[in-house]
Amino acid sequence: MMIKLDNKVALITGSSDGIGAATALLFSSLGAKIAIVGRDATKLNKVAEACTANSPQGYKPVVIKADFESDDEVKRTFEETIAAYKQLDILVNNAGVVAKKPFGDPDALADYDRVMQVNVRAVIRLTELAKSHLIAAKGAIVNVSSIAALRSTPSFWSYCMSKAALDMFTKSMATLLAPNVRVNSVNPGPVRTNILSSIMPGNIWDEMAKLQPLQRVGDPSDIANTIAFLASDASRNMTGSIVVSDSGSLVADPHKEFAEAALKNV
Ligand SMILES: NC(=O)c1ccc[n+]([C@@H]2O[C@H](COP(=O)([O-])OP(=O)(O)OC[C@H]3O[C@@H](n4cnc5c(N)ncnc54)[C@H](OP(=O)(O)O)[C@@H]3O)[C@@H](O)[C@H]2O)c1
Repeated sequence: MMIKLDNKVALITGSSDGIGAATALLFSSLGAKIAIVGRDATKLNKVAEACTANSPQGYKPVVIKADFESDDEVKRTFEETIAAYKQLDILVNNAGVVAKKPFGDPDALADYDRVMQVNVRAVIRLTELAKSHLIAAKGAIVNVSSIAALRSTPSFWSYCMSKAALDMFTKSMATLLAPNVRVNSVNPGPVRTNILSSIMPGNIWDEMAKLQPLQRVGDPSDIANTIAFLASDASRNMTGSIVVSDSGSLVADPHKEFAEAALKNV
C-alpha cells in the first residue's frame, strides 16, 4: 500500500533537526500540512524552506519556536497549530532530550526533572490538548520512544526511565482513545543525529555500526518512514504497538565473541 497523507494536518515536535526534521520533510512530500516546533529558529526556518520545496502543493509549514521545558510553551504550540489549521489529524511527539548527569551527582535530580518534563510531561500535555481534535478527525498519535525503554543503560538511567514511561503512556492512550484515535510508538536504536554525538565525543558512528547485527546505524529517514507508516491508514489495524527500528541492536548477542571462540575449540 502506498502511504498517503494528502491534506492531513500534522503537528511534529522536535522538528528543527534529526528525526523530526526528516519526518517533516517526508510528511510534506506526502501531501501533509504541517506545524514544526523547536527552540532554534534558524534551523526551523531552514527545515520549513525545504518542506515547502518538497510539498507537491507548495504548502508552507507553520513554524513555532517553543521550549517544552515550559508548560505554557507547550500549550502555545498547540494553540498556534489550531489557530492556523483549525484541525489536527496527526500528532508526532518526537522532541526529546538526554540526561547527562550520572547517578549520585548533586545535579542528577534536576537533570531527571528536565528529562521527564520534555520527554514525558510535554507529551501528556499535548495529548490532553489535542484529544478532542484527534477524535473528531479519527486521527493518529506517534510517540518517538527508544530502545532505551526496553534495555537498561545505567549511565542514562533517567532517559531510560522517561522512555519506559512514554511506552506505558502509549499503551494507556491506545486503550483510552480507541476506537477513534490510534496511538503507537516507534523505538529507535542508534540513529545519526546530534542527540548521541552530543554525549559521545569523536566519530562514534563507524564503531557503533560494527556493534549492530545489520552493521549499520539508523538514518533519520529510516525512523521517519516508520512514523509515516504509523501515522497513515497503512497501519489502520495497529494501536498500542511498540515498533522497534534499531539495526538489530536489541537482539544482538552480547556473548557472540565468547561463543564463537568457544566453538572453535569444539
Ligand atoms: N538519535 C538516536 O539515536 C535516538 C535513539 C532513540 C530515540 N531517539 C529519540 O528521537 C527523538 C528525536 O531525537 P533526534 O535523535 O532527532 O535528536 P536531535 O537531532 O537532537 O533532535 C531533537 C529535537 O528535539 C528538539 N528539542 C530538544 N529539546 C527541546 C525543548 N526543550 N523544547 C522543544 N524542543 C526541543 C530539538 O529542537 P531544538 O534544539 O531546536 O530545541 C530537536 O528538534 C528524541 O525523542 C530521542 O529521544 C533518538
